[in-house]
Amino acid sequence: MGRVTLSHLKQHRANDTRFSMVTAYDACFSAVASEAGIDTLLVGDSLGMVLQGHDSTLPVTVDDIAYHTACVAAASPHSFIVSDMPFMAAATTQDAVHSARALMQAGAHAVKIEGAANLVDLVRLFKDQGAATCCHLGLTPQFVNQFGGYKVQGRTNEAAKRLIEAAHRLDEAGTDLLLLECVPNRVTEQIMDATQVPVIGIGAGPACTGQVLVMHDLLGITPGKPARFVKNFMQGADSIQSAFSAYDRAVKDGTFPASEHCFVD
Ligand code: KIV
Repeated sequence: MGRVTLSHLKQHRANDTRFSMVTAYDACFSAVASEAGIDTLLVGDSLGMVLQGHDSTLPVTVDDIAYHTACVAAASPHSFIVSDMPFMAAATTQDAVHSARALMQAGAHAVKIEGAANLVDLVRLFKDQGAATCCHLGLTPQFVNQFGGYKVQGRTNEAAKRLIEAAHRLDEAGTDLLLLECVPNRVTEQIMDATQVPVIGIGAGPACTGQVLVMHDLLGITPGKPARFVKNFMQGADSIQSAFSAYDRAVKDGTFPASEHCFVD
């Protein structure tokens, strides 16, 4: 089995088929997820919450993500690995270059960065330098203090228009992937119409090319009430690997996300 690459993910977009992504932070879970058929692994800054116990992703550093990227890369010969640029890691062009270099050299195949249309220049810069990008739009958790909480985005016509325009501009600028978090299904559908790039969703409905879940949510071990977009795939599974496989199958046969995991208006 060869490695999943961007060409495979782009083929999914062209064929309107689906791929799976799960967050991963260490060698052991990454190997199990890969074995279960998960196509792509995200070394997310969610590690600040699920591994480090913080109440937001803001304390996570580039060194943290680089360390966990190296752990994941060591055990994932077949997976496409995306690593998160943490809070303020791209505050200046120089910061952005240093951060992306550290993550790619640790083993990432693409870097994910939270923002909006403001990311256009960074996408162009990274493209010129050979780094692949995934632009994260919608509910971008690093902006929690500006949003005043973890809230669904793109609900008003004006906000939806801004999101669709941003997605279109980032696609034109050459982003390799988009990731949409917590937006109503109708906004995702319009973003799919306005772009050609593979779109990964979390709480963004079934129209997305790929779906991502935080591993701890998928395994039902995150304390507290799960978010609407979460499904616990350990229910009915007899092992962690079979929970990952059930998630992978559900994404690929279109049964996840179901309407109860989505936002309508
Ligand atoms: O950090 C992360 O795990 C993420 C996903 C929730 C998309 O950004």
